[in-house]
Parts: sequence; structure tokens; C-alpha cells
Amino acid sequence: MNTLIQNGRVVTAEETRLADVLIEGEIIREVRGGIPADPKMHVIDAAGMYVLPGGIDCHTHLDMPFGGSNSSDDFETGTRAAAFGGTTSIVDFAIQARGTRMRDALDTWLKKAEGKACVDYGLHMIVTDLGECGLEDMDDLVNEGVASFKLFMAYPNVLMVDDATIFKALSRTAKNGALICMHAENGSVIDVIVARALAEGKTAPVYHALTRPTRAEAEAVHRAIAMAEIAGTPVYIVHLSCEDALNQVREARDRGVPAFAETCPQYLLLSIEELERPNFEGAKYVFTPPLRTKENLPKLWDGLQDDHLQVVSTDHCPFCFEDQKILGKDDFTKIPNGGPGIENRLQLIHHHGVNAGKISLSRFVEITSTAPARIFGMYPKKGAIAAGSDADLVIWDPGALYTISAHTHHMRVDYSMFEGFEVKGNVRTVMSRGEVIVDGGQWLGKAGRGQYLKRTARGGAWK
Ligand code: URP
Ligand code: ZN
Ligand code: ZN
Repeated sequence: MNTLIQNGRVVTAEETRLADVLIEGEIIREVRGGIPADPKMHVIDAAGMYVLPGGIDCHTHLDMPFGGSNSSDDFETGTRAAAFGGTTSIVDFAIQARGTRMRDALDTWLKKAEGKACVDYGLHMIVTDLGECGLEDMDDLVNEGVASFKLFMAYPNVLMVDDATIFKALSRTAKNGALICMHAENGSVIDVIVARALAEGKTAPVYHALTRPTRAEAEAVHRAIAMAEIAGTPVYIVHLSCEDALNQVREARDRGVPAFAETCPQYLLLSIEELERPNFEGAKYVFTPPLRTKENLPKLWDGLQDDHLQVVSTDHCPFCFEDQKILGKDDFTKIPNGGPGIENRLQLIHHHGVNAGKISLSRFVEITSTAPARIFGMYPKKGAIAAGSDADLVIWDPGALYTISAHTHHMRVDYSMFEGFEVKGNVRTVMSRGEVIVDGGQWLGKAGRGQYLKRTARGGAWK
């Protein structure tokens, strides 16, 4: 059955206009005012609502082994929660185990998603080891739709790779058109500072933040961009947290260097004080890079306004407080690093960005959907409301009042980083490839309906 969404205010990265949207099967067929309904159509009245392209969260960690634990959302619970929040595509991370082939990791992660994913999903590959055939493996993965790779400059002996590996991988992308996503923190320096802190008996959660200075992030961002420049390829900095690091991206972009960066709601809205909460509750806010001092927050909003930051993702990596975060009760380095957020991204950015007058509606759509689709090789299948695009659509009620809470959220985690935050503006209906999967707070989708997204290389970062 065809679907007609009538009377809504269609918001794209370019404009906002009153228009109807005609959907045939999984695809948008037409977008214009006055499309006539016929009796065979399913008609949705969106008067007073916005019609947005489905959100795209290009940084999630579902069912991920990390820090002696496994992230608590799997592909079913995590993508269902994403859908409740208006996100209809994610890009998660497969991890190459050292000494193994990247193809094995891809197969492992495809199996994790199979039969479970509720929305469409792509995969980046975390490269831990180039070995003998790593560079050829990167090419093979690009052919499998893995158009981006994450490298770590932090976590020595776990995920960190050296500059030679980074430079080789960057140089390969200059040929195969993939994009390197960089976790930019100077892990070697941080490890020395951490060891000193532990030797001084500083074991509380707040030392996680106090041992990771902003300069350690800025230095790594600078080095990553410099290496990408030498290799002649774009680079994308993930989860950028502070003004110091942003200045490095700004300086490079002002020189015309294709450097891109994302930030996350937690860096825009929370600060280091959260880690000082009593009763070990600061552990709920232990992730890397850490939360920073308050002065950084408006600078990151400025970065989004000025396009020095292009994307807001979540870095959703949930661990339950009661039985996972607690592992670090006597030693902050043993707290599993990561926080939940896949469900609340649109609510928070709409409320604190659009309602607060910091960004326009179109910019909201751009940073939460269209830019990640472009940069990560999914556009215009995803991230657009146009004839031929997938009918991934969110009918958004700009007047809906909602209080974020772990008591009502759908993520499989026992706390919310944004507990008690009140927002105006929320999802009413979510469509994924033409199917209504959320309506009025009800789940109508099915686990396993989500499809693997084969992404194309030479996406928006190359233009
Ligand atoms: O603490 C974090 N960010 N956990 C997820 C892994 C990563 O570095 O993105
Ligand atoms: Zn990271
Ligand atoms: Zn991450």
C-alpha cells in the first residue's frame, strides 16, 4: 500500500516548506504540495508536525566487548531504542582482533546484527593491526561496503596503533576512497599521567577526566590532521570534546584541509562536575574523551554553527551501573568506558539547539542526518527527503513535552546520563523504508527487519 504524508512541514538540510510526501513501498516517490490522496492509500495527517529525514547515528557500539565487559545494548535493544528516538540508520564498529583478518571481524559483527537489527545499519572497521595483508584487507572491505575505518591513538596495548600504522592506513584511503575516523587522544602521555595518579592513591571516577588533559586530545587531533595532509586524504575526528581540539580542526579547515569532526550530546550539555557525583555515581559519566570544564560547551555549539563540526553522533556505548560500572569501584581505570545516548540525540539537539536559538531547523537535520549520510557514503539513499530516497522519515511533534528518564527509556541500561532533562519536541511517528515502526510511543517494528547498509567510498569528505 502506498502512503501519503499530508500537510507536514518538510525539513531538509536546505529548506523548510509545507509539502506532502508520497511513498511507494520502501521509497519516496514525490515531494510537493497538494498531492491528491486516493482511497487505496494509507494517509497520515502531519498538520502541525515536522517531517524529517530519519536520524543517522554514525557512531554506536552495540554488543561490543570492551574494558572487561560487553556493552549492554545488543543490535535489537539498541536499534529499537534508536528508532524510538527518531534514528533510522546507525553505523556501528566491528573490531579487528590483533593478528586476525578484518573479514573475520566483519562476519562476526554481521552475525551480531542478523535477526536483531530493527533499523538499517552500516559498519566501520576498527583496525588494530595491519599485519601482512591489512592494506589489501582494507580494499576488500571497501568492496563490502565498509567505507570507513577507525584507528585509535589512545588505549596503548589494547586498541592503540602507532603513527606508522596510522600513516599507512591514511595513505591507503587516498587510493581506495575510504575515510579514516580517528580516536584522537595521546594515549602514551595519558598512560603516564594515569600511572602517577594511581600511585598517589587517586582512584575515584573524577580522575578519569583529570588524567586526560585537553592538550592530549588537541595534540592528537593536530597529529592526525598533519598525517592525513601528508597522505593527501581526508580525515574525520570522532567524539571531539573540547575547544582545544576544535581549534586544531578549525585551523586546518580554514586552510582548506579536508578535516571533519563530530561531537556528541554529552560534550555539548554535560561537564566534568558530573564525575564528582557521590556514591560512585560519577562512574556513569566515565567515557573517553572525558567530560570537560563548562567553558568548552558554548565553543562546541559555535563549532556546529560555523561548520567546524559537521556531525552530532552519540558514541552510544552503554554499561549498566549496578553490575558493570561497579567493576571500577576501587580503581577508575577499571570502569568500563562508555555512556548511553542512542535514544535521546534528536530530542536533546532539537531542544538545546533549535529551541534555544543556537541552530536552525535545517542545520539540525544536517548535523543529525544529512551530513553523516554524505560523509559516510549513504547519500541520497539516506539523509534526504527526495524522490528516490529511502522512505526513512520522522514525523516530529515540535510541541511535545518529554522528560528523559531511565524509567521510561528503551535502552537496556539502568541509568540515563540525561536523567530529568525536560525537552520540548519529540518523535510522533517513525518510518523505516516505508514501514511505520514507531507510532505514538508504540513499537510496531520487528527485530531483524533492519538491513546491512553497503556504503560507497569517496563520500562527502572527498568533495
Ligand atoms: O568511552 C568511550 N568512548 N567508549 C567507546 C569507545 C570509543 O572510544 O569510542
Ligand atoms: Zn573512540
Ligand atoms: Zn566510540
